[in-house]
Amino acid sequence: MFREIHKSIGTPTYVYNLAKVRQNIARIQADFADLKPHIHYSAKANANLTILKTVLSCGAGIDAVSGGEIFRALKAGASPDQIVFAGVGKTPQEIRYALEQGIGWFNVENEAELAHIQTLADQLGRDNIRVALRLNPDVTADTHPHIATGHGGAKFGLTTDVVTRLLDEQGKFPCLAFNGIHVHIGSQLHEIEATCEAAEKAVILARGYSSIDTINIGGGLPVAYRADERLPMYQDFAQALVPILQGYDVLLEPGRSIIADAGILLAEVLYVKRQAGKTFIITDASMTELMRPALYNAYHAILPVMDDASGKLETVTVTGAVCETTDVLAKDIQLPALQPGDLITIQTAGAYGMVMSSNYNARTRPAEVAIDGEAWHVIRQRETWDQLLGDEADYI
Ligand code: LLP
Repeated sequence: MFREIHKSIGTPTYVYNLAKVRQNIARIQADFADLKPHIHYSAKANANLTILKTVLSCGAGIDAVSGGEIFRALKAGASPDQIVFAGVGKTPQEIRYALEQGIGWFNVENEAELAHIQTLADQLGRDNIRVALRLNPDVTADTHPHIATGHGGAKFGLTTDVVTRLLDEQGKFPCLAFNGIHVHIGSQLHEIEATCEAAEKAVILARGYSSIDTINIGGGLPVAYRADERLPMYQDFAQALVPILQGYDVLLEPGRSIIADAGILLAEVLYVKRQAGKTFIITDASMTELMRPALYNAYHAILPVMDDASGKLETVTVTGAVCETTDVLAKDIQLPALQPGDLITIQTAGAYGMVMSSNYNARTRPAEVAIDGEAWHVIRQRETWDQLLGDEADYI
């Protein structure tokens, strides 16, 4: 199928398997069954309309972090009350839009934001706006430092003293209903303890306030990028949380765990360059299509698309075409000998892949394809050079 996709629409192309998306959601629903959580898929991981629709059809809601993501979620058919609006820097326009649409929850991270929501809700004649205050629990998650968010010193959340004060001052915000505490300590979490510690801190805080009936424990469920990666089981996360969260409605915001291993990036080898004792496989996918290796030194396995991949292995570095030394997709990995024109797949690329792609070097963003059963469909056309110009105005 990869050859057929390449022949028909070219590369680089993201390819998602919708069956796997559905299976990932079902797995989280089953593993977390004892907590009966409301799952809000974190659209920041992959906000393609088809992916959002697939997730919605499985009964999940959406976690959005911008007006744009809310817009996308609504376009995909989400009902507004299924949307949670989070984000550390919501603009007044975004808050107004969210209020007008009647979204379900605001996850609030800042006192001034609370005041904005109150003022705008009042202007619009809205009340009973559900708010979850995001607690910064001051715990350090075992993950890459660039994707940890729950430690003191991070820009995220509010410290315990501020959350407590705001809860004590609920009366100042008559249009808002302080119904939840939100914690999210990071992504790709490698241990359960820090999550439990954060949830415990949230519950200790919540206990003093009868208005709070919901704890939103964020996302962060990890995904194996390497076959031999040892990670906690989702079930173990859930079971550890059951005694802590008893008596509360639970919201979960998984992103990566739903879409990462449902997607690959398909690329073509352009050149094989042997130089200074190294072999570089230069492909038509670059850091502009998949930024994670360059940004976090993230590992993505690369597999050749070959009928017989049993040939002698060679140590190679797979790179893109972008004018940056960090434009490396995989360093010193073992692959069978590749030729220009051969295809490769970059694995586990469904999450934080396309959404973080860019037009750097005036490169067009890739196409996206969904496999559904036996058939595949283009769910986003490759960008064109004309589209690159957008609404740019030439004043000269
Ligand atoms: N909820 C909140 C408040 C978040 O900040 C995030 C992710 C999620 C949920 C979803 O987390 P997940 O289940 O996907 O771990 N670009 C980085 C990941 C950034 C995650 C940002 N926040 C990467 O490529 O690894």
